[in-house]
Amino acid sequence: MQAVSNKLAERLGDAPTVVSADYKPRADGTTMKALAWFGARDVRMVDAPIPDITEPDDVILKVTGTTICGSDLHLYHGEIVQLQQGDILGHEFMGIVDRVGPKVKNIHVGERVVASFQIACGDCSYCKKKLSSMCDRTNTSGLQNAMYGHRDAGFFGYSHFTGGFPGGQAEYVRVPKGNVNLLPIPDSVPDEKALFLSDILPTSYHAVVDVGVKKGDVVGIWGLGPIGQCAARFALIKGASRVIGIDNVPSRLLFAQEKSGIETIDFNQHTDVVKRIQELVPGGLDIAIDCGTFHEPKTMLHKVEKALMLETDVSEIVNEMIMATKKMGSCGIIAAYAGYTNHFNIGALMEKGIRLIGHGQAPVHKYWHDLRAMIETGKIDPTFVVTHRVSLDEFPELYASFDKRVGGVEKVFVETKFSAPPSAGAPTLTRVADWGL
Ligand SMILES: NC(=O)c1ccc[n+]([C@@H]2O[C@H](COP(=O)([O-])OP(=O)(O)OC[C@H]3O[C@@H](n4cnc5c(N)ncnc54)[C@H](O)[C@@H]3O)[C@@H](O)[C@H]2O)c1
Ligand SMILES: [Zn+2]
Ligand SMILES: [Zn+2]
Repeated sequence: MQAVSNKLAERLGDAPTVVSADYKPRADGTTMKALAWFGARDVRMVDAPIPDITEPDDVILKVTGTTICGSDLHLYHGEIVQLQQGDILGHEFMGIVDRVGPKVKNIHVGERVVASFQIACGDCSYCKKKLSSMCDRTNTSGLQNAMYGHRDAGFFGYSHFTGGFPGGQAEYVRVPKGNVNLLPIPDSVPDEKALFLSDILPTSYHAVVDVGVKKGDVVGIWGLGPIGQCAARFALIKGASRVIGIDNVPSRLLFAQEKSGIETIDFNQHTDVVKRIQELVPGGLDIAIDCGTFHEPKTMLHKVEKALMLETDVSEIVNEMIMATKKMGSCGIIAAYAGYTNHFNIGALMEKGIRLIGHGQAPVHKYWHDLRAMIETGKIDPTFVVTHRVSLDEFPELYASFDKRVGGVEKVFVETKFSAPPSAGAPTLTRVADWGL
């Protein structure tokens, strides 16, 4: 799939952008540790050149906190196109400003900052509305234009389908357009609370706001990884009267019950999820949110069709949501999807008047100021979802264990040689090999 997509992309040519994805190495030739992709389930630590200022509005960060996201698992499985061997991954990270280009005015050397997972230009019609993930001018992928009619913003460490920018699972990272893509963090907020402003907090918040959760709603959440757990919290904050989480990982189901007090459905136990929801909520859900993953088919039909490349994505969750939601209710998709799916229940969608909303990649800039304020005032504390802390050197093991949801893992804080010691109450350093099953 990678060879074909890369060939096709080459033939289609690059779309125009206002940033370059390639960075200039430092003149002294110094190197850093970074996590790079080499193939499906093959990620390795490499020595890569430390980036220098390449364009005048660049910022170079010393990374003090980074992590793995469920979206990285799509790369890990080779389910996203236009990956190339040696691509440095990672789109959720923060750090201390090491160098700034001459055109960077509002970010200063030594400042603690979080980067948005998207690289926005700051000036296009989408950026003017803070729809940073939709920026029109930072992603070269002509292939994405051809497949979707438009293209997303460039993302850090997320294949050449989103611009080919080296990511933040590394000791240093270059942040293009540093004036707009970095959020300063006050000293009162430790890294373990700030890091997630990069992705999972704005993402889960966006899902809940965009699908329109309101007071009294009964909300179903498919997938209880970090995104689902945070979306459940935000749904409760918005006044949901009941939240029902669906997954089959026992530790994640228990986590949701104990930490957020929500009801759960284990889809191994209740194989007919729709029937179970109809039992629990006669009349159906007001709102359903897909926080799952597009490449883990449950049924033989999709397993076979996916294996034969007759579809790239699986419609099981979306169909369950449509069936379990009341007539004229709303279903949102914040989980990432890549391409095409079979057996989509378009009849039920239409006949029931379901409002099915693709939330897009989350526009981080729209929400991160408000969310930072919510952290500062204690209205939210993202550390509830952080279960482990590991060292950067352990990224290859972390990918394998996060993928298999080993040892009760939810969100992981990954430290580098530049990290501060764990803050009060946050997990202390562990080795992935010691997590157990
Ligand atoms: N739109 C965005 O901006 C954005 C940003 C970040 C993550 N995401 C996406 O959100 C999703 C969740 O991210 P995460 O970090 O929590 O990932 P994760 O992989 O840790 O969690 C996904 C969960 O879904 C569960 N699941 C799988 N199939 C299911 C099914 N049929 N029914 C119910 N649950 C099922 C898995 O057991 C797992 O616990 C991913 O698809 C990720 O790519 C989107
Ligand atoms: Zn992510
Ligand atoms: Zn833009």
